Order: sequence, then C-alpha cells, then structure tokens
Amino acid sequence: MFNVIVKDTYDEVSFEAFKVMKGVLNQEKPVLGLATGSSPVGLYKEMIKDHKENGTSYKDILTFNLDEYIGLPRDHEQSYWTFMHENLFDFIDIPEENVHVPLGNGDVEQNCIDYENELKKHVVDVQVLGIGSDGHIAFNEPGTPFDSLTHLMDLEEQTRQDNARFFDNDINQVPERAITMGLASIMRARKIIMIATGANKADAVKGMLEGEKTTACPASILQDHPDVTVVLDKEAASKLG
Ligand code: F6R
Repeated sequence: MFNVIVKDTYDEVSFEAFKVMKGVLNQEKPVLGLATGSSPVGLYKEMIKDHKENGTSYKDILTFNLDEYIGLPRDHEQSYWTFMHENLFDFIDIPEENVHVPLGNGDVEQNCIDYENELKKHVVDVQVLGIGSDGHIAFNEPGTPFDSLTHLMDLEEQTRQDNARFFDNDINQVPERAITMGLASIMRARKIIMIATGANKADAVKGMLEGEKTTACPASILQDHPDVTVVLDKEAASKLG
C-alpha cells in the first residue's frame, strides 16, 4: 500500500522522509536498510542533525545498504561504502561493525550469498529507496525477477549515464556491474520509504504507482508491499493521474 506525499522542495521531501525514519529510530534496536545516490542525502542530513541536537543514538542500530559497484576498492571516492561514511556514518555514533555494505571485490559470487545470509538473520524495519529513471530499485534493472535475492547485475547504459555525473561525466569510468540486494530481499522490509525528485523520475514514478506490475518496471513490485511511503516533489509527481 502506497502513502504518497508530494512536497514543493527537496528539503521538505527530505523532512517528510525523516518523519517516517524517526518513528523507526524510536523503536528498540532497529535495523535500517539504506540507499546511496542523491535522493536520500537530505534525509541523512536530517538524521545527523537529529543525532547532534536530540542525542538520538545509533549504538544499537544495524544498517544494511542496498548495493555496491563491482571492482572499485572499498575506499574509492565513488564506492558506496565511501558514500555512506561521507554522508552519514562518520557523523553519527554507529559502531563500524554494525554497518553492512555489500562487498564488490574478491569472490563476488560468494559475497552475494554471504550478504543475503547475513541479511536474512534480521528483519529490516525500514528500507530507504530511490528510483532509477528506468524504474530500477537498488541496482535491480528492468527484467530482474521479482523473486531475486542478492545478486550481480550488469548495469544498463541509462543507469551508467545517469551516474556518470559522479565520475567526471565520463560514462567509461562508471563500473559496468554491481552487487545488489534482490527484489525479494527488499520486499522483506517491514516498511519502505521511497524518495524521488526531479522531472527525469516522473515516468518511473508513474510506472511504479500506476503502471502494470511488471519486471519491465522493477519498482512496480512495491505495489505488493503493505507499507510504502512515497515522498515526491512536484516534478517527480507531474505525470501521475
Ligand atoms: C542506490 C540505489 C539506486 C538509486 C537510484 C536513484 O543505492 O540503489 O537505486 O537509488 O539509482 O539514484 P539517485 O538518487 O542518485 O537519483
């Protein structure tokens, strides 16, 4: 079930997402599913502010990130491990051993199995998601089976183009593969916060909310989830009927 909220500015969108997150942070020992990319940065800023101003502690909180590029060293400036530290973990009191980010190096097939097994030991209380302009969630590109678990994914040209902005606008520097939670892994979360802003997300948002449930739009699987808060700006909501 979708609860759709439309706001004027990115800051307001981020604050709405934070309100849902705050409800989960108030629970005992919550498990957070986290995303990278531009969409959740404002939410993470709110979480850091709340930690500083209200003393919300992350000492007992576990986090699981959605995905990671294959082949970048962990400390590469564009790895998702680095992204999470620079945008959240370095500014809150989370112990490093509570942080889980898929490993995109070494025996990556085995890493998929290990990550899924670790994830399965817990229930994610809230999963933060963004959406790709092609309808992907995490790095589950169109065509990914709905019953997929953590797996390797060849990234679509469109996704690599969208992400080239982080790699000197050079698509050739964007890794071609990623390790990602699967769609079934994501659907196990108790609650989902989807954040989407900007006109380039409008078609994907329409597909997710109003389109046919189909692997051609991976985000459409969320139509089957009992608790999804979708926070949009007007541009991302512009094609909704
Ligand atoms: C990132 C992730 C991706 C992004 C999506 C949108 O961990 O899983 O699915 O959420 O590509 O990216 P942004 O927010 O940068 O537009």
